[in-house]
Amino acid sequence: MSEQNQPVRTPSFSETIKTEVVCPNDTNPMGILQGGVLVQWMDIAAAVCAQTHAGCISVTASIDHVRFFSSAKVGDILTIKARITRAFTTSMEIMVEATMRRVGSSEIRPVSLAYFTFVAIDHLAHKKAVSPVILTTAEEERLFQLAGKRKEKMLQKEEK
Ligand SMILES: CC(C)(COP(=O)(O)OP(=O)(O)OC[C@H]1O[C@@H](n2cnc3c(N)ncnc32)[C@H](O)[C@@H]1OP(=O)(O)O)[C@@H](O)C(=O)NCCC(=O)NCCS
Repeated sequence: MSEQNQPVRTPSFSETIKTEVVCPNDTNPMGILQGGVLVQWMDIAAAVCAQTHAGCISVTASIDHVRFFSSAKVGDILTIKARITRAFTTSMEIMVEATMRRVGSSEIRPVSLAYFTFVAIDHLAHKKAVSPVILTTAEEERLFQLAGKRKEKMLQKEEK
């Protein structure tokens, strides 16, 4: 907390970690976790992260650069980590990484990575300005710069 009793909005302040165990209902007929189910779990972690940073309800505006690196199967333990990279005016970019571990193994494998954009809204669903992210490490600074580049590209695409 800062002097005015306001939280210091670093990426660590709003970092959100969600754990899931893959169950039969989450999989395709081969017993492999469905991508859409995983993205839903990632969306929830990202929403909690964005809303913790913004201090208000925030809605998903986009999900970009979704990648799946390896397949998770029934019984695997998924850890989903959501971390804010940058806050713009009303929007926030949240980087979400999913990793898996098999019961009885200590090996952690990357499963997915995606970038979510959330927009903060008030009780009338009007867009609302968000506080900047307070950066504390060189890695956070690097991710902040990359988020700016992704936003620039997105705006250029929209102009076309
Ligand atoms: C997301 C939403 C609030 C944006 O409203 P809008 O009036 O079109 O907003 P704007 O074009 O002024 O953009 C608002 C911010 O979102 C960003 N944004 C909008 N669309 C975006 C996209 N596809 N990708 C990344 N950022 C986006 C803008 O860059 C802007 O950011 P900034 O204020 O930080 O500079 C509105 O479209 C909405 O409510 N969508 C439905 C959200 C929802 O229900 N999600 C759940 C899944 S259905």
